[in-house]
Amino acid sequence: MTTTPVALITGSTSGIGLECARILAKKKYNVLLVSNEPQKLEELQSEFSTVYGVQVFTLYQDLSTLDAAETVYHYVLQNKLEVEILINNAGFFFFGEVVQSSPENASKMIHLHIHTTSLLCLYMGRHMKERGQGYIMNVSSISAFKDFPGIAFYATSKKFIKGFTRSLRTEMKYYGVKVTALCPGATATNLYDPNVIDLKKGMRYGIMMAAAEVAEAGIRGMFNNRAVIIPGILTKIMTWLSMLTPHWAIYLARKRWRKLFDKP
Ligand SMILES: NC(=O)c1ccc[n+]([C@@H]2O[C@H](COP(=O)([O-])OP(=O)(O)OC[C@H]3O[C@@H](n4cnc5c(N)ncnc54)[C@H](OP(=O)(O)O)[C@@H]3O)[C@@H](O)[C@H]2O)c1
Repeated sequence: MTTTPVALITGSTSGIGLECARILAKKKYNVLLVSNEPQKLEELQSEFSTVYGVQVFTLYQDLSTLDAAETVYHYVLQNKLEVEILINNAGFFFFGEVVQSSPENASKMIHLHIHTTSLLCLYMGRHMKERGQGYIMNVSSISAFKDFPGIAFYATSKKFIKGFTRSLRTEMKYYGVKVTALCPGATATNLYDPNVIDLKKGMRYGIMMAAAEVAEAGIRGMFNNRAVIIPGILTKIMTWLSMLTPHWAIYLARKRWRKLFDKP
């Protein structure tokens, strides 16, 4: 049976996922772009095949549904694709205490970050194991290094991704499959509501990185078989500082500046 080797990237119509897809297409990987933006997927299909001369497969799928991973898997089997690289990147973000959160958003986040991410690793990982090669990169976050009140659903789901990825890495090592967790810090993307966070200012003051820089660090680290990648010096420093900060200090800071973080 002839199969087409591809790099599968979820959430590849914007931000870090799009930049990862671009880098891999430049390296002449065929790509399978999965996202919930049909028009952007069409535009990228035509752009990538023209500019990079690679095969571009697209799948329009809401990855927060419970059967999303199975749908992606069936698409891969039906189209006789061989997933050489899996990048679980799709994600979203919201601020707010647990009890203030919308239950719909909360379960969407759990399904997308935890359920779909881990099941895609299971399905694609099985084939990689059989072939004795492959790369998996799961996008976590620096928020995974601490318990963060105010973004509990986000940070804790990213903590799951980091822990899951480390365990999977150890398991897959025996089979020649390389597994990496990418933990970006603040990156100027559509993840944030532009009415709340000024991306241009964030970049100008060096607080935020560009999506292309983060993707570049991620792909390089993935091919170099790094376990965990934290792109940027400032991000690394912030991660260490957050790990050193005791939880009582976070409690006091929240108490002092509560209005800044919470909905009225
Ligand atoms: N930006 C940061 O500061 C930062 C920091 C740490 C980690 N990260 C992580 O990096 C990853 C990429 O985020 P980004 O910053 O590049 O933001 P982004 O530009 O908003 O990209 C997220 C991508 O995921 C897709 N997506 C979201 N929900 C989806 C769903 N239910 N089904 C299918 N696709 C879905 C989005 O499509 P739609 O726009 O159509 O929803 C978009 O293409 C995320 O996992 C995020 O948590 C980002």
